[in-house]
Amino acid sequence: MATTSDALVIGSGLAALSYALEASKNGRDVVVITKRGIQEANTHYAQGGIAAVLRQEDSFESHIEDTLKAGAGLCRRSVVESVVKEGPAVIQRLIEHGVQFDKSDDPEREVEFDLAREGGHSHRRVFHAGDMTGAELMRGLIASLLARKNVRIYEEHCAVDLITVRKAEGRQGGTGRHTLDGANRVLGAYILDTKSGKVETFLAKAVVLATGGASKVYLYTTNPDVATGDGIAMGWRVGAEVANMEFIQFHPTALYHPRAKSFLISEALRGEGGILRRQDGTRFMEIYHPLRELAPRDIVARAIDSELKRTGDDFVLLDMTHLEAGFLARRFPNIHATCLSFGIDLTKEPIPVVPAAHYVCGGIRSDEHGESTVPGLFVAGEVSCTGLHGANRLASNSLLEAAVFGHRAAVASERYFELPAPEATANVPAWDPGRAVPSDELVVISQCWDEIRRFMWNYVGIVRSDRRLTRAARRIDTIKEEIREFYWNATVTRDLLELRNIATVAELIVASALKRRESRGLHFNLDCPELASNEAPRDTILRRTSLT
Ligand code: FAD
Ligand code: SIN
Repeated sequence: MATTSDALVIGSGLAALSYALEASKNGRDVVVITKRGIQEANTHYAQGGIAAVLRQEDSFESHIEDTLKAGAGLCRRSVVESVVKEGPAVIQRLIEHGVQFDKSDDPEREVEFDLAREGGHSHRRVFHAGDMTGAELMRGLIASLLARKNVRIYEEHCAVDLITVRKAEGRQGGTGRHTLDGANRVLGAYILDTKSGKVETFLAKAVVLATGGASKVYLYTTNPDVATGDGIAMGWRVGAEVANMEFIQFHPTALYHPRAKSFLISEALRGEGGILRRQDGTRFMEIYHPLRELAPRDIVARAIDSELKRTGDDFVLLDMTHLEAGFLARRFPNIHATCLSFGIDLTKEPIPVVPAAHYVCGGIRSDEHGESTVPGLFVAGEVSCTGLHGANRLASNSLLEAAVFGHRAAVASERYFELPAPEATANVPAWDPGRAVPSDELVVISQCWDEIRRFMWNYVGIVRSDRRLTRAARRIDTIKEEIREFYWNATVTRDLLELRNIATVAELIVASALKRRESRGLHFNLDCPELASNEAPRDTILRRTSLT
């Protein structure tokens, strides 16, 4: 028996929660499925905060200009304008759901909140909760959602594949036709209950992919284990268009420590005056950009990469020791405590840092309401490519985007809620496990997984070249073949699903990087190091037929 609802939400980060809260507001029946515990999402780990204009001396125009500048010519201006202007309403909604942002203790303050500054922003406009903004967002929104009787939450449920009319009818491919009841309309998803090992059918009038990013495709990343690009791969498999996957943001400062698993050292530390130094104590950012430590992230990450390659050092230093110790402990309690747990007192000594993969600017292409090119399939948050970030994301704009598009997608889903339920219109077969048996060769998964993450780091990292990209493409072809063989013979597990998805994401990143014959924003290729000036900047759009 299938589980049915008005809306099926895949994921439980900020985008998913924003969608579920809005869609359930008017009594719609909403199902949220998430592959681990409800808390486990990139959102939970967000440190710096969420950008929105509040102060008199700031303006929408300034936030818009900063976003466009970071995006290096590829942002969609209309999207940037509308998202930035929705910022204050987003903050208001979050506060109404119980989220508590830090307040200013300055008696002369102009506004109630303590607003932080981050790289690329001309003003202080980042709402935060200490240095654990994401955990506070999750706390407030989850509490609100749990109070809704018409929302059912399934933890430890991992989406395997989307079901579309074409798939249900056993036909191949996707049309990308954007009609309400088009041939390729999405009907639901096959979902693995990771505790029982059974694959179940979930049907819904509208489906939203809010599965987050894919930075686990790289060996070193600030992201938690859930960030394996499942939504991008699932959308791709049913024919949704994918855009701008070459633009991977590397955060300049992850903690360098063998046990730290790339713990993030927030950009807000540089916002408060942190200084980057070589190991010999000398500063270097002035060589690379007039804004020095507060230059856009791609510039800072490439500067560190270049310093490390030149000096042969394993890390550079982020120095906070000139700032008052009490302030640092109060403003950055989590980072301070975590560094201390690794034997580093940031009030007394500089922090060893390195860049790490952090954010995927590309994803499933969506319109301004969050709808993909597959009818009824919505996308929100890091899984999507809405046009807000262009070739490089401005710090603290992704939480804003997740909240805006989660909300917009729920509003736009209303017209699907009026349609007949999928179970009334299509005969959806139950999941067919075929002849798959539990595998006794799980080593294949860890081997392929390690290989992908390593060659992506070495060949498709901060600085790329044609030769390295071509090598990576060859490796992916071989690995994909191994995975395909394994996948159809072994019982599905979460690890196997994630491996298949990460291989697809790697393929999409490399294919996109090879297509872009210039260096722009986060994509830097030694064989075409300049901006292409002879034509208007273009998105890299992949359609399934263009690769297979
Ligand atoms: P996520 O929050 O990642 O949620 C995705 C959800 O989907 C998870 O619940 C996951 O378990 C689930 N999921 C994935 N695949 C499946 C599947 N197959 N089946 C079922 N469920 C699935 N951005 C900012 O704007 N400001 C910041 O300060 C900031 N700090 C950051 C700090 C860190 C350490 C990191 C890693 C990121 C930070 N970012 C920040 C980026 C930002 O956190 C993310 O882009 C944003 O939270 C993404 O939200 P989301 O809802 O799209 O996805
Ligand atoms: C950070 O706190 O440095 C992360 C901010 C972001 O990724 O937007």
